[in-house]
Amino acid sequence: MNFNFTEEQLAVRDAARDFAQKELLPGVIERDEKQQFPADQIKQLGELGFMGMMVDPKYGGSGMDTVSYVLAMEEISKVDASTSVCMSVNNSLVCWGLEKYGSEEQKEKYLKPLASGQKIGAFCLSEPEAGSDATSQRTTAEDKGDHYLLNGTKNWITNGNSASYYIVMAQTDPEKKHKGINALIIEKGMEGFVVGKKEDKLGIRGSDTHSLMFQDVKVPKENRIGEDGFGFSFAMNVLNGGRIGIASQALGIASGAMELALKYSQERKAFGVEISKHQAIQFKLADMATQIEAARLLCLNAAQKKDAGEDFSQEGAMAKLFASEVAMKQTVEAVQIHGGYGFVKEFHVERLMRDAKITQIYEGTSEIQRIVISRGLLK
Ligand code: CAA
Repeated sequence: MNFNFTEEQLAVRDAARDFAQKELLPGVIERDEKQQFPADQIKQLGELGFMGMMVDPKYGGSGMDTVSYVLAMEEISKVDASTSVCMSVNNSLVCWGLEKYGSEEQKEKYLKPLASGQKIGAFCLSEPEAGSDATSQRTTAEDKGDHYLLNGTKNWITNGNSASYYIVMAQTDPEKKHKGINALIIEKGMEGFVVGKKEDKLGIRGSDTHSLMFQDVKVPKENRIGEDGFGFSFAMNVLNGGRIGIASQALGIASGAMELALKYSQERKAFGVEISKHQAIQFKLADMATQIEAARLLCLNAAQKKDAGEDFSQEGAMAKLFASEVAMKQTVEAVQIHGGYGFVKEFHVERLMRDAKITQIYEGTSEIQRIVISRGLLK
């Protein structure tokens, strides 16, 4: 492992940090309160090349590596996890999946606008009765010769309303179980496709999470990704990469909370001195820094393996498992260090604490990460 960043990687990190401070911080509390999608900020991120970071420039991307993506995700997530989840889904689940497994026509038509940030994408696997148990897809894609007829409902879809293109997993041949699932590209506006209710969430309230309904949606065969029955494998492989993105989001939430707690502890006085002079606070800060550094190393390790073309599924799951638990625990500690101020919105840490929880749930719960890791060990 070599964690000496290149000049380019450091420039990406600094650009993301700068953007987060200048463009995301000013309205972040209000967007959280009003559940307002950061449309302008996402547009700007697209212009900066952050929506298709790892995509080849010939398809509208920035041609960066996964390490740069981790660095950018951490900086954006320190300030606004609602923006970073949109960025992460578009980068890892949609663009990376299309570039790796899509046809040349799909890349021209869908990847180019997604990677350049002109359009936003969504990844649709979860259903009312198929969350962790992803093989139990109830959405059906009936084979009608030159097209599929898509019927069903998807739940908790990030970018549910703001997306223009959706990758939808659906069962074509139930007898084949997971080998009968297909991944189809759906366009907003296709007849029979309805964006359902927006979820009123505990955290990442600025992101737009919706249910989606499909009723007899005619999907051309050329919109299928890969061979017939490749959909589940597609989803699993794409999620392996997505977990590095969410691990980095969790890392950013934790390190953002730590930066705030560190600053506050050097300003706030109690018992005649800054609270940072009390050992009770020093120990908390030391534990925070240690845990966060360990989470960062796991994220970078998974990213380096991916960049080297090695199998990174276990490392990605380890990074997500550990970083999301660190985010949850350390944001609670950051609130504690802030005392009463930590419980009110203007000090930001209560939002980071609420945002942290989802990192233990989406793109596979902590329990799913343990399944992925233990299966890797036992195979
Ligand atoms: N990478 C690649 N392939 C994998 C894989 C992985 N991590 N995990 C399983 N597979 C493959 C298996 O090799 C197997 O393929 P073959 O039959 O060809 O060998 C196939 O998938 C089925 O595997 P299992 O028999 O192990 O399936 P299972 O039903 O026991 O469960 C699971 C597998 C890992 C639990 C899987 O269902 C899973 O990952 N569930 C969680 C789903 C998830 O993360 N959902 C998140 C939704 S997306 C989201 O949150 C995005 C967002 O909006 C932010």
